Amino acid sequence: MSLLKLAHISDLHFSNWDWNPAQFFSKRWLGNLNFLFGRRRIFSYERLAFLPALYKEQGITHVIVTGDLTTTSAPAEFQKAREFIQSLEAQGLQVFCIPGNHDQYTRKAYEQQLFYNYFPQQWNESSSYNLKDHGMSAQKLSDKWWFVGLDTALATSWFFSSGYFSEKTEKHLIEFLSKLPTGEQVILFNHFPFFQHETPRKRLQRGDALRKILEQFPQVKIYCHGHTHRQCLADLKASQLPIILDSGSIVHRDKGTWHQLNLSSEKLVTDVFTWKDEKWQTTHQESYDL
Ligand SMILES: [Fe+2]
Ligand SMILES: [Fe+2]
Repeated sequence: MSLLKLAHISDLHFSNWDWNPAQFFSKRWLGNLNFLFGRRRIFSYERLAFLPALYKEQGITHVIVTGDLTTTSAPAEFQKAREFIQSLEAQGLQVFCIPGNHDQYTRKAYEQQLFYNYFPQQWNESSSYNLKDHGMSAQKLSDKWWFVGLDTALATSWFFSSGYFSEKTEKHLIEFLSKLPTGEQVILFNHFPFFQHETPRKRLQRGDALRKILEQFPQVKIYCHGHTHRQCLADLKASQLPIILDSGSIVHRDKGTWHQLNLSSEKLVTDVFTWKDEKWQTTHQESYDL
């Protein structure tokens, strides 16, 4: 029984305050203002530097990043995020990034699909799917496990942070899951939760369509997401849904968390890591039969 060790991190929100007057004509002004008067105090970035060595030490081989790598989709923010991802890759880790709403923050960033100037749109060149054109990408991890990531982020008007699970992405995801050989299983990751609990301005539009796919395809065993900044583990197998893992915002000064997933074909053990006494420590562990 081989064991895969993965890390799930989310909502890194790299920022780079500047006084460029052009920002006052776009939503970037709002994002920078929010950062200056709020998030700058509640976010702490120094702790990220401890991760590459820790992951190596823990024997982690793959890292899932479920979006909001930036604050306002500015090139300087993307550059900081990319440098951090490169520091993980320098330890031999394979990193899989998908965008969140803050990575498609302005109309311009969305039209130019700026995120994909910094992070790959496709994880496997032989795959028929890429995030930019199909809204999803897939990578086989082992004889049993697949990673499937979704891009459901889009530019929204001021004061909205919603996502959209498009009909196009729905079609490709159903097509992919329908062709999956018997016995193969999926970890699906998306920036947004599919539940419609958030207010309409924060939720994933057409999240119910995604939920129906999860009910229809029990091969999707695990659903990883971010966006809420609230760490959460929920085993929803009894409701014909996957195990749901929200790793929270890793840079949150008081509540920053990330997850380590220890995975075999039959079992998932999730360790919740919290920043305590100037180091990352396991503060909680849950075990699930798959
Ligand atoms: Fe976020
Ligand atoms: Fe978000």
